[in-house]
Amino acid sequence: MKNNVCGIKLSATAAPIIRAKSRRLLPYPGSKGWFIPTLLKNLQGCRHNLIEPFAGSAVCGLAALESNSIDELVLVEKNTRLAHFWKTVFTDDTFAERVLAFPLKFDGLTKEVERHGKKFRIIAADEENRARVLAAVDNQNDIALGVLLAANASFNGLSSSKNVSLTGAGWPIETSCMRHTCVQQKGTYMGVASTLNLPFFAQRIRQYRALHSRVSVIQGDGLVALLSFPNHFAFVDPPYVAAGAGFYVDMQIDHAALLNALAARPAPWLATYDVHPLIMELVKKLGLAAAERSVRTVSNTHKPELIIAPSPEYLSSLAVL
Ligand SMILES: C[S@@+](CC[C@H](N)C(=O)[O-])C[C@H]1O[C@@H](n2cnc3c(N)ncnc32)[C@H](O)[C@@H]1O
Repeated sequence: MKNNVCGIKLSATAAPIIRAKSRRLLPYPGSKGWFIPTLLKNLQGCRHNLIEPFAGSAVCGLAALESNSIDELVLVEKNTRLAHFWKTVFTDDTFAERVLAFPLKFDGLTKEVERHGKKFRIIAADEENRARVLAAVDNQNDIALGVLLAANASFNGLSSSKNVSLTGAGWPIETSCMRHTCVQQKGTYMGVASTLNLPFFAQRIRQYRALHSRVSVIQGDGLVALLSFPNHFAFVDPPYVAAGAGFYVDMQIDHAALLNALAARPAPWLATYDVHPLIMELVKKLGLAAAERSVRTVSNTHKPELIIAPSPEYLSSLAVL
């Protein structure tokens, strides 16, 4: 599907999303798996260090690192629990073992339930299993493990607000109804027993840990960090103007200051944003360039997102898979 704002056309494909999902450690709202092919393609040809100042699940930066498209990666995240998670992944040799040792027990996953006159499988028992996992995580007092399991036990990384201590992880939204919707619409939701694949998590953690000498994780403000690393290629994916408030605990973004800093940046950068009048106005005022791209959401609908670049020339030269 294609759209354009500045006469620039971008194509969308489902394949990269599937590839990114099968390798990601942390499902996360607003995750930019769809941007990985674009980023990797545009990093080709010269050696870069990359900064991801609003890291979240860091799928783009980590894909660039693992594919050796960059030398070094700087991840910046304001949320203390999430930043702690990434620091643990890259510095704590015992983390993979702690993940593997976590006691998972699931009961009767294939119950049938009837809602609104229709029959669905799984969900009743799954809610109980999920609650049990989250309660067990809480008892362990292990923040990194809590972030990992809460994100993977929840639909699209959104965790239930019933679980008080985990709401600080960056997923403050009640999702029971979203999970039911998911089952109704797609009929493919498999329950926490399949999403909590501990051997896979441990393997990915060890793979990331092996790359630790090329990664820095900073808990702090993305804009401050951007200014501290003026020569790094930047992939900038801040909380969106319209949707961000519902998704993230840390939301205080000065969008004008951020886009001003990008406009003045000496090194190359790419940003993603929501298609919002405030952002479109800033793009125009600062002489930046933006193109819309239609992106498939987790609930299988499409929504437009903006790709922003330093200039129309830069944007039209973008290689997009
Ligand atoms: C749109 S999400 C990033 C998603 C990420 N690109 C991914 O693929 O998962 C924005 C992230 O910025 C974080 N954040 C919010 N305010 C921040 C700030 N001032 N500095 C750094 N990170 C911030 C949020 O906690 C959230 O994780």
